[in-house]
Amino acid sequence: MRTTDLIIKKRDGQELSTQEIDWFVENFTTGEIPDYQVSAMLMSIYFQGMSIRETTDLTIAMVNSGDSLDLTDVIDGIVVDKHSTGGVGDKTTIVLAPIISACGLPVAKISGRGLGHGGGTLDKLEAIPGLNIQLTSEQFKEQIKTTGIVISGQSASLAPADGKLYKIRDVTGTVSNLALIASSIMSKKLAGGAQRIVLDVKTGTGAFMTTLKDARVLAKLMVAIGKNSGRHTVAIISDMNQPLGCAVGNSLEIQEAIETLNNKGPIDLTKHCLKMAGHMLFLAGKTNSISEGSELAKKTLKDGSAFKEFVKLVEAQNGDTKYIYKPQLLTQVKSISTVTSTEEGYINKMNALNIGKAAVILGAGRERKEDPIDLSVGIIVHKKIGEYVKINDPLFTIYANNQNKISIAKKEALKGIQVSKKTKIETIPLHYDVIE
Ligand code: URA
Repeated sequence: MRTTDLIIKKRDGQELSTQEIDWFVENFTTGEIPDYQVSAMLMSIYFQGMSIRETTDLTIAMVNSGDSLDLTDVIDGIVVDKHSTGGVGDKTTIVLAPIISACGLPVAKISGRGLGHGGGTLDKLEAIPGLNIQLTSEQFKEQIKTTGIVISGQSASLAPADGKLYKIRDVTGTVSNLALIASSIMSKKLAGGAQRIVLDVKTGTGAFMTTLKDARVLAKLMVAIGKNSGRHTVAIISDMNQPLGCAVGNSLEIQEAIETLNNKGPIDLTKHCLKMAGHMLFLAGKTNSISEGSELAKKTLKDGSAFKEFVKLVEAQNGDTKYIYKPQLLTQVKSISTVTSTEEGYINKMNALNIGKAAVILGAGRERKEDPIDLSVGIIVHKKIGEYVKINDPLFTIYANNQNKISIAKKEALKGIQVSKKTKIETIPLHYDVIE
């Protein structure tokens, strides 16, 4: 096979065969195919797209480029996993993992870091002093066996082709292609050893997929890849036009996740976690229906068992549990300032993208993978779409360590907030669709 022939084939809109995709992935992973030819192939895929069969083949080839985690020797029963396509204030995993564990299912979760305005579970967990989020495969397996719950970063040996490809996509303007996004996400899920997968596909201003139409296409594609790979997959399409919950920023989000685990969290975040939990528990065969799953999950928030699982997780990964019992210790910053409304009316916009960007300006997120971040800074929004504000009511609070950044962050956040003086604005849906 010749790389140039495959690039031309795809450039001209033809389908690549399974063997051609396998060959291409194998050879760029070993470095046989230079980056400039990988870039040309990516651009051809970007413009010509890939069929579901090609996308599944690409996913499986990326899984086969490295190790896969086999959890069957440490987990007795079904391994169910979740994945979010990412957004602003999305701390779902930190609440959901302990809930699922408290319901009696093992949770072996591989998570990632944040990039741009989208946060990452690993960064959030790292806000807890001492907590180790880079476990070896042996430590990961040992912990799931002894504790039943583990969350760690991905080892370099899982789907290495995806890591290589993502770096090139990032600098060639080819990230936002549905086949490439779907195969990237699903390759990591499949290599992570899950038998059943619940996907949280976000849509809205703060999401990868800004339109519901694109989110549906991505969700359908990932569900099809899961099915074609023998893993039962369900996708929930959820809102990301405004932040999920109120806290945006790593320590602030841990604090909010802990409040939610103590059954005192924001309504939208709680509802979202319970819906996800319902699907996960049903998919794993733990309950007879999704609603029964959500009810079981709700009990774990009320009786404190989900919080206990979180403490267990933090202890097992050497985190200092003092901060779990007193999370306000995590959010000590040099300056806390609240911005109030200058208008009266209904909030009709609390743009997740602007709020996310404002948090990045404060230092809560990174523009490039290697950038350092400030775990204690961020924003708390006090109002959501559809709520009424009076003049001088608080809109959001900024937690900052760098005085110079406060006014820039404030301006960015305010760009995304609109108060309507006219008629009552309805709240927006939390969930739009479920794709099975
Ligand atoms: N998340 C991933 O893991 N990969 C993508 O391509 C996009 C989001």
